[in-house]
Amino acid sequence: MKHFLAISDLSSGEVQDLLDLAIKLKEEYFKKGNPPYFKGKVLGMIFQKPSLRTRVSFDMAMRHMGGDALYLSPNEIGLGKRESIADIARVLSGYLHALMARTFDHAHVLELAKWSEIPVINGLSDYNHPCQGIGDALTIQEKFGKAKGLNVAYVGDGNNVAVSLMHVCAKLGWNFTIANPEGYDLNPKAVEIAKENAKETGIKLTFLRDPHEAVKGAQVIYTDTWTSMGQEEETAKREKVFPPYQVNAQLVSEADKDVIVMHCLPAHRNQELTDDVADGPHSVIFPQAHNRLHAQKAILARLFGVG
Ligand code: CP
Ligand code: NVA
Repeated sequence: MKHFLAISDLSSGEVQDLLDLAIKLKEEYFKKGNPPYFKGKVLGMIFQKPSLRTRVSFDMAMRHMGGDALYLSPNEIGLGKRESIADIARVLSGYLHALMARTFDHAHVLELAKWSEIPVINGLSDYNHPCQGIGDALTIQEKFGKAKGLNVAYVGDGNNVAVSLMHVCAKLGWNFTIANPEGYDLNPKAVEIAKENAKETGIKLTFLRDPHEAVKGAQVIYTDTWTSMGQEEETAKREKVFPPYQVNAQLVSEADKDVIVMHCLPAHRNQELTDDVADGPHSVIFPQAHNRLHAQKAILARLFGVG
């Protein structure tokens, strides 16, 4: 692995290897702490938008394993404004050992990776959120094991998080269904990629409008914000369109009785996800958030070639 930009860049075996490593590092961390595999290494973290989970989990992943992390805010860097992305990538390559970037435009992460001599990790772009995808797969696998043929239902906006979830399902042999309103479909290129992967793993991909149909027989219900970062001017319009896609107790009762409810967070409580579901017995939203830490450690370890 040179960079970590999209789940679809990895083979099924590489995805499973990251999960196996994440499980090993998680067990090790809770038993005796992780050895200092990242000693002497510093991760630069470029953030063009806010973050809680991604920022803190990457920072702590580096510290737990003997390394360090440096936060670079939008104002400091001026990515593509104060200085070209190509120049930033080449300068930082001489100071740091890996870069994580959260950008608006996916092309900006690709541009960083093109010019960087050190590994680049996509920490969320307008296209996808692959680190989230690995953390989510870890959470699903911890609950249901490596069984193929699980039914994962995503309800809401066909956004960046949905793309990485679809791709990780396609790699791991889990059926993926999405129900979203018209006009909020998944990126068509991402769907084509998933269809190609689905041929190999034999999973079913289903694209629906009706959330009730989508959750029938689902072992996983997943939702995310109706308005992603950068789309704030559409908030009012989206708040009119998305209410039928709310994940509430009624919708959860229509799924498999052992269904888990997932959300990448931050949640807009009582919009896409009601309080009773978020804090109820089916919810795994906090273990899911915590698994980001263990997933990041595995991603970093593979990029550094250690552990
Ligand atoms: N899920 C996620 O990426 O959260 P942050 O935006 O807080 O990093
Ligand atoms: N879809 C959300 C995910 C945040 C982690 C966004 O892009 O804002």
